[in-house]
Amino acid sequence: MINEYVAKTFHGLEGVLEEELKELGATRTKQLKRAVAFEGDLEFLYKANLHLRTALRILHPLGSELVRNQKELYNFAKSINWLRWFSPEQTFSISANVFNAPAFNNSAFVALKVKDAVVDQFRDIKGKRPSVDKENPDVRIDVHIYKDKCTISIDSSGESLHRRGYRSSGHRAPLNEVLAAGMIMLAGWDKKETLIDPFCGTGTILVEAGLYACNIAPNIKRKVFGFFYWKNFDEKLWEGVWLDARGSERRSDVMLIGTDVSPKVIDYTRDHVTNAKLDDNVRLMVKKFEHMVPPTSGGMVITNPPYGERLDRVEVEELYSVIGDKLKQDYAGYTAWIISSVEKFNKYIGLRPSKKLVLFNGGLECRYLKYELYKGTREVEKK
Ligand SMILES: C[S@@+](CC[C@H](N)C(=O)[O-])C[C@H]1O[C@@H](n2cnc3c(N)ncnc32)[C@H](O)[C@@H]1O
Repeated sequence: MINEYVAKTFHGLEGVLEEELKELGATRTKQLKRAVAFEGDLEFLYKANLHLRTALRILHPLGSELVRNQKELYNFAKSINWLRWFSPEQTFSISANVFNAPAFNNSAFVALKVKDAVVDQFRDIKGKRPSVDKENPDVRIDVHIYKDKCTISIDSSGESLHRRGYRSSGHRAPLNEVLAAGMIMLAGWDKKETLIDPFCGTGTILVEAGLYACNIAPNIKRKVFGFFYWKNFDEKLWEGVWLDARGSERRSDVMLIGTDVSPKVIDYTRDHVTNAKLDDNVRLMVKKFEHMVPPTSGGMVITNPPYGERLDRVEVEELYSVIGDKLKQDYAGYTAWIISSVEKFNKYIGLRPSKKLVLFNGGLECRYLKYELYKGTREVEKK
């Protein structure tokens, strides 16, 4: 049976997510705000959860209705056949988002109303009710209200899909895996040219690039998806999808180079690279960017330098101007993509970007800028 699904993502990644969906075989895709709608059968839903690099979660909308007050919201939520999806022995949670809806200005209250409707339906029909578990529920329900239109969905992913299962450490400021994968795709990296992250931190960009180059499904190591808990979970179908993904992994000769000034984060990165089975492709070094010399063959730099949390204004300006100088001196033949929330960081870098994108990293607005470093750039920029 073909259903409509909605894959959610970050602002700015809608285009690459739609491309991924089409490549995976989705028909009838449509870009929305921070999301892409698509159609597919149950097998495709399993595939999408396993393979999509730029999706945060995939929702299965169960209905949309106009609701003008609490009573109408409750009635709509109760009209959905919840018993078809899960049983009273399972736990659930509700997340609600409300936009431009004066009748429902409190999303916590919306979640409570829908919870009441779900619980009442189970009690009326089964005589017992499922419990709410806000931390680790079996089933997650999503409520979205825009003006007076309410959509209620069941979440097929469970925990956010950025939790790939290769990260073992809790470093303070890692890039979200979905954002890192999106940056690699937005950069148009061809999976073959050398890729360098000179401020690699815990290695998110390197690992996401390696998985992409080796055609390894980003969530192949995840133990649990939300759809495992649905009544219609087809274990055989899922096993087939998982085995197909394993079978289409391939070796790659691509070189991924990561450096960072901190020995501790390089240790974390080494763990992540090993967990993701990418040791053959990744070279790591403890090194200051200032002392790093890239291979002369050319390639791509994708990086996320420090952004002022630990550095004061002057240090930030100095660092970004050193980045600009080094790129000019040593990176001829490379294309560099730099993401940062430092305001107007391009001014300190002092090179002309050929592309400027806006992305968000953990809620911080960032610029993602492209620099093409031709041989002779230094002379041109100096004039
Ligand atoms: C924003 S974090 C990068 C996070 C990374 N993208 C991740 O996913 O974990 C910036 C990194 O730059 C490193 N760093 C700071 N100054 C440096 C320098 N001069 N040379 C090399 N690395 C530096 C820090 O140790 C930190 O790990």
